[in-house]
Amino acid sequence: MFLKSLAFKVNLFIAVILAVALGTSSFLIKKNLTHQAIEEAMTKATILTASVMNSIVVEMSGFCQKDVQKIVSTVGVVPGIRTVRIFDEDGIITYSAEPSEVGKTVDVLDYSVYKSDERGRPFRSEGTEQRAFCSIEPIENSLECHRCHGEEKELLGILDVCVSMQDTEERIARNSKFLFATTLTTVILVVVAISISLWLLVNIPVNRLVRTMARVRKGDLTARVSLRRNDELGHLADSFNSMISRLDSSDRELKQFHAEQLKRADRLATIGELAAGIAHEIKNPLAGIAGATQVLAGEFGEDDPRYPVTQEILKLIERLDSTIRDLLDFARPSVPKIVPTDIADLVHKTLFLIEGMPEIKNYGIDVSLDMDPSMPMVPLDPDLIRQVFLNMAVNAIQAMPDGGVLTIAGCPSADPELGEVHPVEDYVVISFTDTGAGIDSDKIKSIFAPFFTTKVHGTGLGLPITLRLVEQHHGRITVDSEVGKGSVFRVYLPKSESPADNSDST
Ligand SMILES: Nc1ncnc2c1ncn2[C@@H]1O[C@H](COP(=O)(O)OP(=O)(O)OP(=O)(O)O)[C@@H](O)[C@H]1O
Ligand SMILES: [Mg+2]
Repeated sequence: MFLKSLAFKVNLFIAVILAVALGTSSFLIKKNLTHQAIEEAMTKATILTASVMNSIVVEMSGFCQKDVQKIVSTVGVVPGIRTVRIFDEDGIITYSAEPSEVGKTVDVLDYSVYKSDERGRPFRSEGTEQRAFCSIEPIENSLECHRCHGEEKELLGILDVCVSMQDTEERIARNSKFLFATTLTTVILVVVAISISLWLLVNIPVNRLVRTMARVRKGDLTARVSLRRNDELGHLADSFNSMISRLDSSDRELKQFHAEQLKRADRLATIGELAAGIAHEIKNPLAGIAGATQVLAGEFGEDDPRYPVTQEILKLIERLDSTIRDLLDFARPSVPKIVPTDIADLVHKTLFLIEGMPEIKNYGIDVSLDMDPSMPMVPLDPDLIRQVFLNMAVNAIQAMPDGGVLTIAGCPSADPELGEVHPVEDYVVISFTDTGAGIDSDKIKSIFAPFFTTKVHGTGLGLPITLRLVEQHHGRITVDSEVGKGSVFRVYLPKSESPADNSDST
């Protein structure tokens, strides 16, 4: 688990980068220090050679030839000096701090350096015992030497001084160890510091977020993360909290909506039973009254002043009968018989019925049709949906007693801007737009409730029946209305049959 954690990965990444960066810089520093140490040692060898040379010249000019051996022996015991000797042109050692060497031949390297252009410059000698920096300097036969050595010889000897590399090598080793320890300590300290910061700044708040998310996943929508920080994690926590708040309020709304739907379904069922009972009780006596009135009307001649009264009674009976039919429809909704239907044709047939209504003429209403030519075939019960369209159109007409325009429009897909039906492509929409009185915003919620009416002779059953029929088809109805300007009722019907339809029709 720890190996998969973000903190471990970040630490590993930083440790590798640091190790590479510090390792490279330490390597360069070590190289530089080594170079400096070697330079110093070489300078030391050069200076020593020069001072031995000076001493010899001074001693020689005082005719104390034996003192040359003394000088050589004295310098030879200085700590760090490996070799001090003088050899002749043939490579035979004439003076040496190591007296046993006198008379022997110098090693090949020293002799070759003397022969080359390198003489006078310090060089590294990888001798058998100890590595050293050496300097080989010819002792010229100068004017002051002629007194003893004559003038023939150009060279009196070759001075060979070597300084041991041991000190330098020890210094380099110490530097390397120090650099390695510093690099390692820095990497460890940085990684520990980053671990602690990551733990405090990232791990703790992220764990809090994760724990809260787990609570939300289990259904606790009251869970909130409390991170009072003004950084990315703080913003993440704020966004998370506001997301959960919205989820919570949507959840409440949904529950409330479901509760209302349940209440409505329950109320509708009660009203339905009541309505069915009343309708049943009224329907038969009403048929009797209608029959008796018709008999009476037959008895009276058309000139009889009582004849119009019987006609008025018959009209009222007809209206009562239609109300009772509505009630029965509402109480015992019929099962839709779904067939693929040309919806444009259905709208045309509805329009034909509407145009025959006396109100169209009496109120002075224009009816206009705006049907998209590409309306598809829609699976629906044409009788029931015709009733829906009729109810919508009649309401619109009744809302314009002073005249106006009723526009019936058909669109093969819902308008995405309305955003009310998802996915919008799966629905056709038929809209009924009037330029009538409009509906008060406080009443708009009630218009689909049974028996809500603002009309003297209305039953308030038109819209509840309409809504139920549309819902039986798995569709929806929306209303937009503005008082004084008019209303738009949109009926959304699905283009394809849902599984529920299939089960209904079997
Ligand atoms: N197009 C519309 N413009 C203005 N108000 C409307 C419109 N359609 C419906 N309403 C309002 O909604 C109420 C309920 O309508 P609904 O069709 O259910 O019953 P009703 O029309 O009053 O009675 P019924 O349909 O039995 O004649 C109406 O009384 C009216 O106030
Ligand atoms: Mg109505």
